[in-house]
Amino acid sequence: MENKIKKIGILTSGGDAPGMNAVIRAVVRTAIHKGLKVVGIRRGFEGLISGDFMDLEASDVSNIMYRGGTTLLTARCPEMMTQAGQEKAAQIAKVLNLDALVVIGGDGSLHGAQALSKLGINVFGIPGTIDLDLDCTEYTIGFDTAVNTGMEAINKIRDTSCSHERCSVVEVMGRNCGYIALWCSLTGGAEEVLIPENPDVNSEMVIQQILENRSHGKNHNLVVVAEGIGNSQELAEKIESVTGIQTRATILGHLQRGGIPTAIDRLHGSVMGFKAVEAILEGRQNRVMVYRNGKYLDLDLDEALEYKREYDNSLYEMIKILAI
Ligand code: F6P
Repeated sequence: MENKIKKIGILTSGGDAPGMNAVIRAVVRTAIHKGLKVVGIRRGFEGLISGDFMDLEASDVSNIMYRGGTTLLTARCPEMMTQAGQEKAAQIAKVLNLDALVVIGGDGSLHGAQALSKLGINVFGIPGTIDLDLDCTEYTIGFDTAVNTGMEAINKIRDTSCSHERCSVVEVMGRNCGYIALWCSLTGGAEEVLIPENPDVNSEMVIQQILENRSHGKNHNLVVVAEGIGNSQELAEKIESVTGIQTRATILGHLQRGGIPTAIDRLHGSVMGFKAVEAILEGRQNRVMVYRNGKYLDLDLDEALEYKREYDNSLYEMIKILAI
C-alpha cells in the first residue's frame, strides 16, 4: 500500500527548552530516512501564520543537538489564541500540503496544536518545557537541564551563604508548577521549599524552621521558592526582620532556560522525535508523545490534555527529613 504521508512540518513553540534541538534533529533525520519531505517553520505558530518556513535537509540539523534553545526559533503567539489566527494557521498548513505537523512545546503549544486538529490538520505533539507541567507525561524535554542549572546555582549560592552565615532564598522557574523547585531543593539540600501545590507551607513556618535549624547549630539556611509562589524578595526581608539573620534573595529566572542540554534531555528528545515520525507513518493522527512508567507512548491529544495527575507530597516530606 502506498504511504499517504509524504510531507511533514515541524515547529517549536512557547518557551524554549534545552533538548528541543535534539527533537528537531531526530524528527528531520528520521523523516528523511523514511523518504519524507520536511518543512521547518520558524518562530512557532507565529511563523506558521506569517508563512515563515524553509525546507529542511539532514545536513541542516548538523551540530545542533549540543546547543540549548531552539534553532527553529520560538515565540509566544497571542494570535494563535484567536479563532481567526487558528484558521489562518490551518490554511497555511493546508497550502503547504502538510500531511502532519509536529509541534514541540508545553501546555499552551499543545492547546494550539489541538485547535489546529479541530480544523482538519493532523498534528503530533512532543512535550518540550522546562516546567514538567504537563500532567499526561512523566517527562518534558528541558526539565533535567533546568534542574541541573538550578542545582549548580544553589551550590554556588551556598558557598557564599555559608561564608557569611546568612540565609539564602532562591527563586526558580516553573510557572504554576513546583517540580523544578522540588527537584532543586532535594538535590541542592534546601531546608524548606515553597510551591503552589503545597499552599499550607507559609512564611511563618519557614521562619520557624530556620530558627529551629539555627538552634541545632546550622550556620546558614537555604530556602527555595517556586516562581508560582513569587515574592521571594519580600520573604527574604521578612526572614531578616523577624530573625535578625542577614538574608538575600536570588531570582534565577531565564538562566534556567538556557545551557547545554544534558544527556537525559538529548536522549528523551531523540527518542521522542524518532518515535513520533514512526507513529505518524503508521497513520496515527492527532497524538502526543508521552513518557510513562519507563515507556514512550503516543496518546490521543484530546484525552491527554484532559488528564490530571495528582500531586504527591512525598518528595516534599523527604526534603524536610533530609534537611534536619
Ligand atoms: O514555561 C517555561 C517558562 O520558563 C516558565 O517557567 C516561566 O514562567 C515562563 O516560561 C517565562 O516565560 P517568558 O520567557 O515568556 O517570560
